[in-house]
Amino acid sequence: MKPSLAPPRPGDRGLKCIERPERYVIMTAKRLLIVAHVPSPNTVALCDAVVRGARGAGADTVDILAQSPFDTQPEHVLNAGAVVLGTTENLGYMSGALKDFFDRCYYPCLDHTQGLAYALYIRAGQDGTGTRRGVETIVTGLRWRAVQDPLICRGEYRDEFVPQCEELGMYMAAGLDAGIF
Ligand SMILES: Cc1cc2nc3c(=O)[nH]c(=O)nc-3n(C[C@H](O)[C@H](O)[C@H](O)COP(=O)(O)O)c2cc1C
Repeated sequence: MKPSLAPPRPGDRGLKCIERPERYVIMTAKRLLIVAHVPSPNTVALCDAVVRGARGAGADTVDILAQSPFDTQPEHVLNAGAVVLGTTENLGYMSGALKDFFDRCYYPCLDHTQGLAYALYIRAGQDGTGTRRGVETIVTGLRWRAVQDPLICRGEYRDEFVPQCEELGMYMAAGLDAGIF
């Protein structure tokens, strides 16, 4: 939390403002960064569920940013309090999009994000284990900290994946809000 003497301005986002008689204290929101590859309607629904769950946590100190791996730069990770990674499994491995994110962000983040809380969900038509192994190898190198078991939405698409993803988002936002991560 970074206090500031500057008064809040209309349109400030992600800021929680507490008015005091003598000054304003602005608490900078903690950011939950959701980096998800969503190439199909089902994967869009899963990402939306993560976001909905995070918003539903009632975590008013948490700012949520959900975006494609291709749009995610190292600065987004450096400014995050926790990260949710979402990917499809393609040819036994994570999506090229998520791999591209890691390729670009690994070294810029390596010395600055150790201990970063993360969670992973995978949409896999049949398996998911190759993707889990691939992601875990990379985040082990980064020394990020898994705060939930990976969620693998495996097999034929089922409606029950949606509440599972909502729960994941809720848990991450609530944990960040409570300062657990
Ligand atoms: C080229 C291609 C390769 C795939 N390879 C795998 C795979 O190795 N393992 C797996 O479990 N699913 C695989 N899938 C299935 C995708 O994971 C799945 O279709 C994707 O997550 C989108 O989910 P949806 O079909 O429910 O929209 C593959 C799909 C495509 C198009």
